[in-house]
Amino acid sequence: MAPASLKRVEKIEELRAAVAEARRAGKLIGFVPTLGGLHAGHGSLIEAARRDCGYVVVSVFLNALQFGPGEDFDAYPRDLEADQAFCERHGADVLFAPSHEEMYPREQLAFVEVDRLSGRLGSAFRPGHMRGVATVVAKLLNIVQPDFAYFGEKDPQQLAVVRRMTEDLNMPARIVACPTVREADGLAMSTRNRYLSPEERRRAPALHQALEKARSAAEAGERSAAALAAIVRGHLQRSEIEPQFVEVVDPDTLEPLETVTGRALIALAAYVGKTRLIDNVIVEV
Ligand code: PAJ
Repeated sequence: MAPASLKRVEKIEELRAAVAEARRAGKLIGFVPTLGGLHAGHGSLIEAARRDCGYVVVSVFLNALQFGPGEDFDAYPRDLEADQAFCERHGADVLFAPSHEEMYPREQLAFVEVDRLSGRLGSAFRPGHMRGVATVVAKLLNIVQPDFAYFGEKDPQQLAVVRRMTEDLNMPARIVACPTVREADGLAMSTRNRYLSPEERRRAPALHQALEKARSAAEAGERSAAALAAIVRGHLQRSEIEPQFVEVVDPDTLEPLETVTGRALIALAAYVGKTRLIDNVIVEV
């Protein structure tokens, strides 16, 4: 149930004081980092944190560092009042909403780079993106110092990079993965779905359908990664969607697979109109 009131904090020192007080009261600290534009996918992360932890921090910070030139930083939804009401309804204790200047008071010279993983899954199309993500997540984890931090399987590369970063750098937060929340027709929830026209929105579930076709084929015995990727591409083509990439990889190392034995991640990015959407499925054979 939602606590009586949600605290909104903009300053790092104030956030640290609030978390320290909760810790003194013996509470476990759960943390859900977001860019804002909150939807039920984010809500499921907050609810997972609520189940595990006595004190839940949600951050809303539109991190310029992870957007490339020509990407949608300017267009990205910014509605802190709506996000605050959303956090309150989902039972968060604190909304941390720092300004750009609070997070980056001077030129940032230190960055977190997770070798190999950062360069996988179509990263060539978003150079510097994973470095921007890893760096801001490291900063946020150092600010909040949570026991548990919650990430969506919707973003499998981000999940793998953050996991590996916390393990290799001995960061104490434990990373919890949460399943992708979907619309009734299968479209993965995303803040970027708001950019879709009604016609694009009708076509967008093809991403999920294409991945489900590949999953069925794997379950029916198809083991070739190339064949599974071709099934995905074929379905997208029939829906007049051009994928940016379709890859079949190891879910932890993100290394491309030739043959599926065990667990495989099938991930794609595709433009529906001008909107870049991602989706994925994990198959287990
Ligand atoms: P954002 O896109 O706002 O997503 C915040 C978290 O919500 C991520 O862990 C993401 O995987 C998860 N999420 C998004 N859509 C979801 C869905 N449909 N089902 C389940 N989880 C979903 O990812 C980021 O922000 C940023 O890169 C961030 C980690 C905050 C660093 O800036």
